Order: sequence, then C-alpha cells, then structure tokens
Amino acid sequence: GSRVDSIMLVEEGFSVTSVDASDKMLKYALKERWNRRKEEAFDKWVIEEANWLTLDKDLAKPADGFDAVICLGNSFAHLPDFKGDQSDHKLALKNIASMVRPGGLMVIDHRNYDYILATGCAPPGKPARSKRQVGSQGRPSSAPAPAPQCVPAPVFQQVPSLLLPAPPGGLKFRLSYYPHRLEAFTELLKSAFQGQCQHSVLGDFQPFQPGQAHTPCYFIHVVKKTG
Ligand SMILES: C[S@@+](CC[C@H](N)C(=O)[O-])C[C@H]1O[C@@H](n2cnc3c(N)ncnc32)[C@H](O)[C@@H]1O
Repeated sequence: GSRVDSIMLVEEGFSVTSVDASDKMLKYALKERWNRRKEEAFDKWVIEEANWLTLDKDLAKPADGFDAVICLGNSFAHLPDFKGDQSDHKLALKNIASMVRPGGLMVIDHRNYDYILATGCAPPGKPARSKRQVGSQGRPSSAPAPAPQCVPAPVFQQVPSLLLPAPPGGLKFRLSYYPHRLEAFTELLKSAFQGQCQHSVLGDFQPFQPGQAHTPCYFIHVVKKTG
C-alpha cells in the first residue's frame, strides 16, 4: 500500500519495494515512477502486484527479509474477515511479518475503531480530512472553540450487528472496513511474530498512554522482530 509513504521514502533515498493488489493503485505508482525515471532513486523503485494473503508466493523476499515493512493509511482494515474467524487477518499478518528481517520493523496502523464503535463518530479534533470540519477559518483566536461535532464514521460490513440495509436503488459502492480494536489487533500482531517481538503503539504518531486525554484518530503499531 502506501503510495504517499513510498514516494517519500524513495525521495529520501531508501530502497523501496511497494506492493498492492489493486490495478488502480499500481497504475498510479507506475505512472509516478515513469514520470520521475530520470531520478535514479525512482528508476530503482520496485513496484509489484501482490496480495497479503498470498504474499509468500507473490513477492520475492530478500535473503534476510526487509529492514522495515510499512502498511499505513488504514489499509489493513480494508481486508475483510472473509470467514468470520479472522483467519484471513491472521494469515495476512503472518505473511507480512515473514517479510521482516530479524531486528527489523513492521509499522501498521488502523483508525481508532474503539472510539468509533463506542460513539459512531470519528474522533474529534485532528485531521482536516473532512471538509465539514474546516468551516471556521475566520474565527478570531480568542473566540471559544466550537463544540466538537459528530462526523459519522463509515459503516462496517463485517460486523453483522452493524449491517445497515442498502438505500432504495442500492449503493454505487460500499466502504467496507474491519474495525480493528487496539487490544485485539495487538494480540494478532504478537501472534504473527509468534511472540518474538517488541510491540509499541503510537496515537497519531505521538507516544500513547491508555486513558490519555487526547483521543487519537489513528493507532500506529510499531513491532520489532526479535527472533
Ligand atoms: C486506503 S488504500 C491506502 C493506499 C495508500 N496507503 C496511500 O496512502 O495512498 C488501501 C490499499 O490497500 C490495498 N489492499 C487491500 N487489501 C489488500 C490485500 N489483500 N493485499 C494487498 N493490498 C491490499 C488496496 O488495494 C488499497 O490500495
């Protein structure tokens, strides 16, 4: 995943291999590589079609593995729980973890679904991702901040109790996310490394303490492979 992160890393001079299962996303990356092919770093950028569920077959692993495997932008939440027992999540995480060299890092994020499931809303405050949140630019700095509004968070197909009926005429497309919870996802990650790892969590890329005042929009898991 991570086209933005990939481009940033290539620009910084890292040797980058980027994978995605989607033609559309690959096309975007391939076009960017072509446009900047005169820059040596971009000329060497490896872009492959690969599915997390078959990553071992789809992607050749360097001898010891990659120094770091990065999966950001809430990408992992796009993988459905096909069988209802999270076996596909486990398989994908195991495959991704197997690409990390001993001593290397895996960085993977998901939205703060604990908050979203509890409230039905996206966490208040942060990103100007939603245009609805950016309406108050002319406000003098002394004026009180507006009360946080509930920006409804997307529907999850994978949680049967939250399934909503389709509107008349049907949906053109559906957003479908698996709502990974912080503790459960942490356990999945540790299992993917068979416990041979050091795990830590950031909230919006800041140190995170459970129960802290600021509600993060994103949890970023950083796992170091020790075995
Ligand atoms: C929200 S996009 C993130 C894109 C990228 N992180 C960025 O910032 O531009 C999620 C990506 O995950 C990819 N994806 C979903 N399931 C996948 C799978 N099983 N194997 C590989 N990629 C997958 C999708 O194709 C999509 O491009």
